[in-house]
Amino acid sequence: MIWLIGNKGMLGNDVEKLLKERGLTYWASDKEVDISDYKAMEKFGKDKKIKWIINCSGYTKVDKAEEEVDEAFRINKDGVRNIALFSAKRQIKLIHISTDYVFDGSQEGGGGVVAYSEDDKTNPINIYGKSKLAGEEEIKKILEEYFIIRTAWLYGLQGNNFVYTMLRLFKERDLVKVVEDQWGSPTYTVDLARAILKIIEDDSVSYGIYHFTNEGVTNWYEFAKAIYNRAKRLGLIDDNKKVEIQPIKTEDYPTAARRPRYSVLSKEKIKKEFNIEIPYWRESLEKYLKRILDEGYRI
Ligand SMILES: NC(=O)c1ccc[n+]([C@@H]2O[C@H](COP(=O)([O-])OP(=O)(O)OC[C@H]3O[C@@H](n4cnc5c(N)ncnc54)[C@H](OP(=O)(O)O)[C@@H]3O)[C@@H](O)[C@H]2O)c1
Repeated sequence: MIWLIGNKGMLGNDVEKLLKERGLTYWASDKEVDISDYKAMEKFGKDKKIKWIINCSGYTKVDKAEEEVDEAFRINKDGVRNIALFSAKRQIKLIHISTDYVFDGSQEGGGGVVAYSEDDKTNPINIYGKSKLAGEEEIKKILEEYFIIRTAWLYGLQGNNFVYTMLRLFKERDLVKVVEDQWGSPTYTVDLARAILKIIEDDSVSYGIYHFTNEGVTNWYEFAKAIYNRAKRLGLIDDNKKVEIQPIKTEDYPTAARRPRYSVLSKEKIKKEFNIEIPYWRESLEKYLKRILDEGYRI
């Protein structure tokens, strides 16, 4: 049986949908079973035969983390340690989600930038990234049977994300300014959820760290333009509404937390190990917008 932790979050929501679709038996919890309270976890797990834990929970407010340092570490480090201890005690295999923000984003190869592989040197530049890396380290200290999946730029139906923010701004404004000098790979939660379930369905023992994002590389400005063009075509934005999207530099859009400039992750390891094909981000964006259209969600 599977214990899905964080089922009310953006990723957790789609993982749960897929678990249901595939007819897999699972238990799910979110904040009501606080991962930073080991006793609460034991109480929930008592009498349950758990083989896998999928941890989609976390403290995910990147800017707020700069002031809520203790809270970020309480969840992303201490909470994850509890999950690892619980898993070790009960011989549970753990799938844990981490982030591209464990890297500093300054990786450059011969004359250009290169994607980060799983064993490249980590060096987080904000509190959120530091707390997530601390969580990874707890898992590595305590467990052998773990999968840590680092992902990036997630969007899904549930919760706040860049696509929703853009769709809202395209309705409210005539001019939207978006940074053009941060590079990465947008990732649809459904695609990541599928990769997570593949690990379980394979009953894999190829433990370790993996990177997963959608294929392709872009920047926030290009991503915003793609959202606008597709949303317009699908009728998610009024025909008469014209919005100018203007590229700006990171220094013109100050945020509390610094972000990596280039945080593209190499997916070679996960593709090879689990024999999966990963969709390109534009393709997945299209599917996502159509889903919003069909399910009429939140905008
Ligand atoms: N979003 C991204 O772009 C992104 C990028 C890279 C990696 N990730 C990682 O991917 C994972 C999923 O991200 P997401 O965007 O789906 O996150 P999310 O929407 O914020 O969901 C996280 C869930 O965990 C819950 N939670 C918080 N503290 C908890 C606790 N102490 N005990 C139990 N549950 C708790 C949250 O509840 P509340 O909402 O009530 O706090 C929320 O329902 C996270 O590990 C995140 O670090 C995300």
